[in-house]
Amino acid sequence: MAEALRVGVAGLGTVGAALIAQIARQHDALAARCGRAIDVVAVSARSKGKDRGIDLKRTKWFADPVELARSADIDVLVELIGGAGGPAKAAVEAALGAGKSVVTANKALLAKHGVALATLAEKHKAALNYEAAVGAAIPVIKTLREGLAGNSIERIYGILNGTCNYILTRMEQEKLAFADCLKEAQRLGYAEADPTFDIEGHDTAQKLAILSSLAFGTKVDERAIYVEGISSIASADLIAAEELGYRVKLLGVAVKTPQGIEQRVHPTMVRKDSAIAQVMGVTNAVTIDAEGINPITLVGPGAGGAATASAVLSDICDIARGLRTAPFGRPTARLTGVRKAPMQRHEGGYYIRLMARDRPGTAATIATRLAEQEISLESIVQRHAKDDTGAAKKGGAVPVILVTYATSEDAVRKALAAVGRDKVISGRPQVIRIEKN
Ligand code: HSE
Repeated sequence: MAEALRVGVAGLGTVGAALIAQIARQHDALAARCGRAIDVVAVSARSKGKDRGIDLKRTKWFADPVELARSADIDVLVELIGGAGGPAKAAVEAALGAGKSVVTANKALLAKHGVALATLAEKHKAALNYEAAVGAAIPVIKTLREGLAGNSIERIYGILNGTCNYILTRMEQEKLAFADCLKEAQRLGYAEADPTFDIEGHDTAQKLAILSSLAFGTKVDERAIYVEGISSIASADLIAAEELGYRVKLLGVAVKTPQGIEQRVHPTMVRKDSAIAQVMGVTNAVTIDAEGINPITLVGPGAGGAATASAVLSDICDIARGLRTAPFGRPTARLTGVRKAPMQRHEGGYYIRLMARDRPGTAATIATRLAEQEISLESIVQRHAKDDTGAAKKGGAVPVILVTYATSEDAVRKALAAVGRDKVISGRPQVIRIEKN
């Protein structure tokens, strides 16, 4: 059997510990599959004394991850430190610069420096593998890069953040408050160190930037993405969605349009009977629309130690087998710049929830403003506020829910700005885009 592949792991959080445990458990099976053993020979982390539930007695310890990356003791660096810069970037650069292959789960690093790192990997003929960076255990990187290498991709959309899907699921199913669900997601280890990163959509955006590059052969560019998070979603929206035949999911969507590539992250109404709407809890899913074939939906665990370690290990196996693919599916010189389709030109249906003043002329004013922008309504529902006796209460503000046929973002924004100026509503309207699926 060939010599063992010597792995150095930088970062021993939940993923690092799960990875080392999995390699120990699967040692013989991995050697049989890859034709050589995979041995974790060195590690680096902040605190040496911490009990992580893994045996590190025969593993060399490095206080500095960059030193680990350069060490002649290892063939492959596994970077699990996280963060777009700092020690994670320095260690990855040091390893690639020394001609060592790298496996990373670091979406922030790839979203920001993916092209530069892929160029460095190419120059030194090293692999740069990152299956765990998007959708954890779901093999979506390999699906796009290898499985669909022969297809033209039209659209890709997915639930890419376990924390948000967990929160939306519990809010919907158990009628819980947003803050309580978030706390629970943190306790279970799904959320990022700063959970605003999850709930404001930035985690999804980084993952979408990577998928979009693979799907469309463009340079990874997180700045080309329109981002809205889920913090404004209220129970009222989830209840209304249910009644209208939808569910609300935080989606990352990248789609080819005549204006360029539209990349957006926002809460989205998806039909309740669609594949993506069935995805609950921390589970992630990605649907790929490729020309000439029916859509493919991949579903699986998208966060957590074991799920992420599973993808990291599959990347290590590729290296052990001697496989090396261009990190973004083609040489970096062949990646094109993103021609960004402006969000104002986005076209689709819209759900709009307004608090309308309950007096004569309000509905007519709203209808006029929508008509001025040539927005056609699929449905309109007004609910009366009730007083203590259950009777309809007149004169206050009442929720009005509108669902439009396909229109443009620009038209919706203009119509709602005009309704605001007319002073027939109170507060800000809630707007949720509807994705065709
Ligand atoms: N915070 C991320 C999530 C972890 O909730 O999906 C995986 O990237």
